[in-house]
Amino acid sequence: MLVLGIESSCDETAAAVVADGERILSNVVASQILTHERFGGVVPELASREHLRRIGPVIDEACARAGVSLADVDALAVTEGPGLIGSLLVGVVYAKALAEALAKPVVGVNHLEGHIHAVMLENKIARAANPEIEIAEFPNVTLVVSGGHTVLYRVEADQGDDGTAHRPQFRYTRLGQTRDDAAGEAFDKVAKLLALGYPGGPVIDRLSTHGNPDAVDFGRVRMKGNPLDFSFSGLKTAVLYRVRGTALEREAEDRRQWQHDLRREGKRPAADELRTHCSQETLDLIASFQSTVVNDLVERSLVAAESEAVSSVFVSGGVACNSLLRLRAVEAARVQGLGCFFPSLALATDNAAMIAAAGFFKLAAGQRADVTLTAHASFPLGVESGARDVHVQNPNG
Ligand code: KG4
Ligand code: ZN
Repeated sequence: MLVLGIESSCDETAAAVVADGERILSNVVASQILTHERFGGVVPELASREHLRRIGPVIDEACARAGVSLADVDALAVTEGPGLIGSLLVGVVYAKALAEALAKPVVGVNHLEGHIHAVMLENKIARAANPEIEIAEFPNVTLVVSGGHTVLYRVEADQGDDGTAHRPQFRYTRLGQTRDDAAGEAFDKVAKLLALGYPGGPVIDRLSTHGNPDAVDFGRVRMKGNPLDFSFSGLKTAVLYRVRGTALEREAEDRRQWQHDLRREGKRPAADELRTHCSQETLDLIASFQSTVVNDLVERSLVAAESEAVSSVFVSGGVACNSLLRLRAVEAARVQGLGCFFPSLALATDNAAMIAAAGFFKLAAGQRADVTLTAHASFPLGVESGARDVHVQNPNG
């Protein structure tokens, strides 16, 4: 089954053609970074306009690269939420119109479910090339960590009666989530405060290799209540207090001006050049910030895996690109005897192949959206663990 996936929930316009939920024939992503970077964040109105401008060409490109025409596609899958409402609407309306014109079925996919499926898709691709690679199994604990979300799920796969005729259907239980900022949002806001560019995650990741992660002791993130919840706004404020009114603030101002001047000449700072505009104190500060976020993500994910008695952890979403997170999660999981699975960088950030892969299982189970399919800015995935007793030690002691 050839599925055309369409994703437009935030600032990437993406389309992909995926065969049988496991082979990527094309995966096209048109990034809007150049549109939003001067604002240090996504401007919703500009995002919608960019999606509108690009969605047609991006879908054409996805078909061309896959070597198929729209008529060859068997079905469509589109992100219906959560995300920016104007951005989502462009994808949903386009997908519905296309499905209607082509007389093909369409299903709506939760963006977070897409991120979870990116891990399985990656594992299937890797195993097709090398069957020795460990299989990504269920049930597992999945951390979805991006610019908009930081959520821990328990993910289960129901095989159906005969295990073959019925494609597995997935069940998601929310174990914990951020109470304020998403981890990626904290990276982006700290980068904005320090005038390091947008999006902040990749820049802080690169620059942190030149800083000392133990230079600043931010302590651990402490919260009452569910130990599987996250909170990053306090840490972001702690960074702000270390910058405000100090030499670091003046240094950031100089960097802002330098980048502003470069942009006026139509140039962007190269990574190495940016580093030469950062003092060692700034590099140490961001390395310490990154290390604190990563330790918190890893620790709570492993506490969740232990309390859920699963044997593997999946990590997905834009922040799953973070090199320190990859290192520390794999190492900590190994020590605890758990499997640890990440998508490739291209499948970790927003893309439409993950939407096509998640949509495939819904389509294979006979699900079809009707004309009422619409966009949802807020669209929680799965059920709250709620009354389920989670007997865990608070990781913060
Ligand atoms: O999944 P994604 O593409 O979009 C959302 O669904 O939000 O994630 C984008 C987020 C941004 O906040 C970006 O700064 C962050 O992922 N990100 C990273 C890295 N690469 C992207 N954060 C930390 N380290 C990275 N290497
Ligand atoms: Zn995302």
